[in-house]
Amino acid sequence: MIGFIGAGSIGGAVITGLVKNGFNSDDIIVKGGRSNRTEILSDQLGFQVVKKVKQLAETDIIFIAVGADALNSVLKELKEIAAGKLIVAFTGSASVTHLKQVLGDVKVAHAIPNTPVKVGAGFTGITYSDDFTAEDKKKIGSVLGYTGQLVEVPENELGILGTVAGCSPAFLDVFIEALSDAGVKHGLSRKLAYDAAIGMAIGASKLAKQSDLNVSALKDEVTSPGGSTIRGVAALEEYGFRNAVIKAVDAAENE
Ligand SMILES: NC(=O)c1ccc[n+]([C@@H]2O[C@H](COP(=O)([O-])OP(=O)(O)OC[C@H]3O[C@@H](n4cnc5c(N)ncnc54)[C@H](OP(=O)(O)O)[C@@H]3O)[C@@H](O)[C@H]2O)c1
Repeated sequence: MIGFIGAGSIGGAVITGLVKNGFNSDDIIVKGGRSNRTEILSDQLGFQVVKKVKQLAETDIIFIAVGADALNSVLKELKEIAAGKLIVAFTGSASVTHLKQVLGDVKVAHAIPNTPVKVGAGFTGITYSDDFTAEDKKKIGSVLGYTGQLVEVPENELGILGTVAGCSPAFLDVFIEALSDAGVKHGLSRKLAYDAAIGMAIGASKLAKQSDLNVSALKDEVTSPGGSTIRGVAALEEYGFRNAVIKAVDAAENE
């Protein structure tokens, strides 16, 4: 049995990814916030909703998916029932050290999922406290594995990993929208332009993942001398595409 505290954007995305990809919703209990967001999601997915954190006492793993403002009050309530459980916080500002400080001798982890978890294609970075055993990590993997890839990293890399994998879906959405605008400008219908741009992003990502070649070599393969693709790549460089992407990550990293 697993529990969630908070089912907003990321909590809801993880729960959706779990259930849509085969995790039994009877094994999920969720404590929601003040709005009826959790009840609405429960109507769609069929998990149990509870009003108090202590009603998660029967669970083995609890995921905390509240924002920074609610974290400490949630941890205070959670302390009463946390013994023996694995606690995983998605809250950006949480840290393994802070979670341990507040919860005491409890195994804790800090994880940053991205929104594609919703369709089982997520990329989640995770840092475990030192007392996590291989068996404990397997347990977390057996749950979050339903939502996509799970990669263990040192906590000092979790923030930038969260930006590269977590903010970038929005960056890619902007790229897809821009590519579609260009298609429309040159005469495609909006629907066909979006279908083409999204289909390309899925296909090119799949190729990059499955190919033995790195993305630079894949680009080299499709840029014939003097051809249209290399002219497009040169225009991207001329207008600072690569630098714009790096600056976007810089901006996300620097508050
Ligand atoms: N969004 C992302 O892509 C993403 C990715 C990785 C990590 N994160 C991190 O995850 C955290 C949450 O982000 P979010 O985007 O999911 O925010 P969000 O959409 O505002 O969701 C937070 C949820 O927490 C609920 N909540 C607040 N206090 C609660 C309490 N005492 N008990 C139970 N539920 C409570 C709220 O419920 P009500 O609205 O019903 O009050 C809200 O639905 C942030 O720290 C963020 O940095 C987000």
